[in-house]
Amino acid sequence: MQVYLNGEFLEQKKAAISVADRGFVFGDGVYEVTRIVNGKFFQEEEHLIRLDEGLKGLKINLNEKIRNSIPEISRDLINRNGHTEGEATVYLQVTRGAAFPRTHTFPDPEVPASIYLSSGSFKPHKKLHESGVEVITVPDVRWTRCNLKTINLLPNTLAKQQAKEAGANSAVMIRDGVVTESPNANIFGVKDGELHTFPASNYILNGITRRVVIDIANSLNIPLITEPVRQDDLYDMDELFFTGTTTDIQPIIKVDRRKIGSGKPGEIVRSVQKEYDKRLYG
Ligand code: PDD
Repeated sequence: MQVYLNGEFLEQKKAAISVADRGFVFGDGVYEVTRIVNGKFFQEEEHLIRLDEGLKGLKINLNEKIRNSIPEISRDLINRNGHTEGEATVYLQVTRGAAFPRTHTFPDPEVPASIYLSSGSFKPHKKLHESGVEVITVPDVRWTRCNLKTINLLPNTLAKQQAKEAGANSAVMIRDGVVTESPNANIFGVKDGELHTFPASNYILNGITRRVVIDIANSLNIPLITEPVRQDDLYDMDELFFTGTTTDIQPIIKVDRRKIGSGKPGEIVRSVQKEYDKRLYG
């Protein structure tokens, strides 16, 4: 398996970064995960635009020529790794680069940003899409710039681990009494035929899948309310589901061991899944 690191393709096992890299020392970087089906990148431009927004948000200057060659590098990578057939993902990470000694302020003079890409084959969680999943609620202890897809994922990994230890599939994060998102996906609720989701703001990552689902809702004439759902109202939703690049459209059937709706994936999530599959695989 090959990866791309700072200008070259090399064996994954031989790829190494400097211990002075600010990604390693500070978590000073951003990332993207993109889905590929039979060599076709899903929503590629949207991921690249979000990458640009993240870089801008963190004031990381990625060389323009390198930035513009990301689609070409990604294609080269999946060719080398044999990921042009079937399902795959490309992981892309950019950090502020390597600078020693360690200082909180940005390196002065500036150093080149580090860029890393890897690809892997991907198996969608088809069984979970059918059955739905159980989740727990946890406090959202993240910072207030969650719109930036930074590599600082400790609150997310801790929440996901907590869910695993509780025998659940994932977590729903709660900030100030309202539902924000999951550690690695956005969340939608259905009540009386209307779709609810947290507004695009600094409190959530504005998922690319979330945006596709909003477009699907419009095309299916499902009314959409982009307002926070209170935790108290969460348990009374008719349906709940996660959306994300590696999650797809995943029904949630229990929260904190309480059944959502009938305790089975509902009608609306089924219609969204159907439409989403058409767009992803069509
Ligand atoms: N996670 N919210 C959070 C906190 C996320 O980390 C993700 C994606 C999403 C969904 O975004 P999108 O639809 O653009 O994938 C929402 C990626 C897949 C990850 O960390 O692996």
